[in-house]
Amino acid sequence: MITYSGRKCVLSFTKFLSFVIIVMFLVTVLLTFIVLTSENCACVNQQTSFCPNSYPKLKNRKLLSHNLAVLVPFRDRFDELLTFVPYMTNFLNAQGIQYSIFILNQVDNYRFNRASLINVGYLYTMGDYDYIAMHDVDLLPKNTNLSYAYPATQPFHVSAPNLHPRYHYDNFIGGILLVNREQFKLVNGMSNKYWGWGLEDDEFFVRLKDANLNVTRPVNITTGTSNTFRHTHNKTYRKRDTIKCYNQRNVTRRRDRQTGLHDVKYKITNVHKLTLDDYPVTVVNIELKCNRTVTPWCDCSNTTKSSLNKKT
Ligand SMILES: *[C@@H]1O[C@H](CO)[C@@H](O)[C@H](O)[C@H]1NC(C)=O
Ligand SMILES: *[C@@H]1O[C@H](CO)[C@@H](O)[C@H](O)[C@H]1NC(C)=O
Ligand SMILES: *[C@@H]1O[C@H](CO)[C@@H](O)[C@H](O)[C@H]1NC(C)=O
Ligand SMILES: *[C@@H]1O[C@H](CO)[C@@H](O)[C@H](O)[C@H]1NC(C)=O
Ligand SMILES: *[C@@H]1O[C@H](CO)[C@@H](O)[C@H](O)[C@H]1NC(C)=O
Ligand SMILES: *[C@@H]1O[C@H](CO)[C@@H](O)[C@H](O)[C@H]1NC(C)=O
Ligand SMILES: *[C@@H]1O[C@H](CO)[C@@H](O)[C@H](O)[C@H]1NC(C)=O
Repeated sequence: MITYSGRKCVLSFTKFLSFVIIVMFLVTVLLTFIVLTSENCACVNQQTSFCPNSYPKLKNRKLLSHNLAVLVPFRDRFDELLTFVPYMTNFLNAQGIQYSIFILNQVDNYRFNRASLINVGYLYTMGDYDYIAMHDVDLLPKNTNLSYAYPATQPFHVSAPNLHPRYHYDNFIGGILLVNREQFKLVNGMSNKYWGWGLEDDEFFVRLKDANLNVTRPVNITTGTSNTFRHTHNKTYRKRDTIKCYNQRNVTRRRDRQTGLHDVKYKITNVHKLTLDDYPVTVVNIELKCNRTVTPWCDCSNTTKSSLNKKT
């Protein structure tokens, strides 16, 4: 009897142990599943695959190393793009920069809005990247000493006035500008009021200034305005949209304290991951929205000839 009871007891204990082991196994499987699913949603891969709602979760995540999103506002410049992607890939690879190139392709019928496209590009990439290059598609750095490294303390203007082929005024920050995630957020990004060509970069300069950010520029560069960059833009072939209609001229000469990163209205209609001659690039199709009450000059097509002022 006693032996029997003892044997029964041993059996129960073995059963109990197996039960515990099975439960622990199931819990482990469940936890692994949960972790894997959330990792999947975090989009931490290099060629970012955007997953909705990942931005708020990840914006404060510490990156293992700095990661640059090259943001290229774009419309209808395919020939310039074909040159840009291979060139910049080789240039940035040579510097050991970790980066991806994003072509911000404006697909609506409004006038080109470089600043709003950059706002959208920032929102789209900031889950996985911790700084941006606001980059013209037609400006290629030739001097290998121009650094695209992380701008830790101040925005860094690569295409400085003493190096840019065309613009030489002190407050010029267009062309190529590196800004980190916190700096861009601090100034509420760029104004959304600049439809058509020009002035949005000058307004951004004032935003940086108001936030006490002092743009820094390359030092000890031995090349000058004629040989630091290659400007691939063909003025004859592609005219700039410098028309001003309604009260655009008045409004766009002022600091905009209303609009920016927080209120850019848009829809991403498609994301294409392409390779151009084996060089990867992500094309983000962006449909910008315009409130015609606030910025009627997003479309000047119905204004009479006499009310249009050509910029001189
Ligand atoms: C880059 O800087 C180094 C060190 O100052 C210099 O030797 C080199 O000539 C520079 N390269 C160019 C393209 O200016
Ligand atoms: C920028 O320069 C101004 C004036 O020299 C200075 O007061 C300010 O602290 C600087 N900002 C930063 C972030 O260093
Ligand atoms: C620039 O060149 C000057 C003179 O050669 C040197 O003293 C200075 O340290 C250099 N600055 C940087 C940031 O390399
Ligand atoms: C610019 O485009 C025009 C018209 O297509 C062409 O005739 C001209 O050769 C181009 N200029 C350059 C510098 O490529
Ligand atoms: C220009 O804009 C300011 C501020 O929005 C306004 O007060 C002023 O009347 C405008 N001037 C013209 C000529 O439209
Ligand atoms: C456009 O802006 C006006 C003025 O701020 C506002 O009253 C209106 O609701 C806006 N329209 C849309 C569609 O957001
Ligand atoms: C411009 O005029 C055309 C023809 O009158 C009209 O169909 C169109 O809706 C107008 N567009 C705007 C933006 O007012």
